[in-house]
Amino acid sequence: MELPEIADRRPAVDPAFGNVTLRAFRLEDAGMAVDLSRDPYVSATGTLTLNATADQAQKWIRRQQTRYPEGVGFSFAVVDNTEGHCAGFTGLWVRELPAGRAQIGYGIALSFSGRGLASDALCAVTSFAWTLPELHRTELYIEPWNTASIRTAERAGYFREGLLRSHQEISGQRRDMLLYSTVRD
Ligand SMILES: CC(C)(COP(=O)(O)OP(=O)(O)OC[C@H]1O[C@@H](n2cnc3c(N)ncnc32)[C@H](O)[C@@H]1OP(=O)(O)O)[C@@H](O)C(=O)NCCC(=O)NCCS
Repeated sequence: MELPEIADRRPAVDPAFGNVTLRAFRLEDAGMAVDLSRDPYVSATGTLTLNATADQAQKWIRRQQTRYPEGVGFSFAVVDNTEGHCAGFTGLWVRELPAGRAQIGYGIALSFSGRGLASDALCAVTSFAWTLPELHRTELYIEPWNTASIRTAERAGYFREGLLRSHQEISGQRRDMLLYSTVRD
């Protein structure tokens, strides 16, 4: 599938909302990636190895840094403004940009969870999404058991559209997915 052209579409100013700021990943964020890799669902749904070594974590950071130049989308480090630590990631994936749609993903390292950072990050990345004029709709795909992610979506103002049955395979099993979205005003 041909990827859309997103050169020069990075934010001029790092997107921010509430207690978080989003910025490009740096190699020094590998410590956060090691922490993040302790969550089995993060590794099941992405390319971060479960219980990653420092080397595997650095390789994951490098892969995040290639998402934009490859045209796949924008992978941001989520920085907790309180102490300036990298706490997680959020990605805006734009393969469907020509059709006016994009998907968003997020994960917060276990040592930063439960502080509302995910919903702040989702608000920040959604605001950035609306700076792309072709975009009319942002989507989240969430498994029905994932209460923390459902709360994150709802706190960020996302609307539940329905259940997509047997929508995708994760860890060798077909999974149902709740579809959440926001649309441009
Ligand atoms: C989902 C995730 C990003 C939430 O991050 P977070 O920063 O801890 O979330 P928040 O602190 O904003 O909490 C969001 C809500 O979920 C609730 N919550 C947090 N962890 C929870 C848990 N384990 N079980 C139930 N509810 C939980 C919080 O109380 C909060 O609810 P509230 O709005 O009623 O107060 C994080 O748990 C994560 O990275 N999970 C693994 C990856 C993942 O599932 N990503 C999303 C894929 S769709």
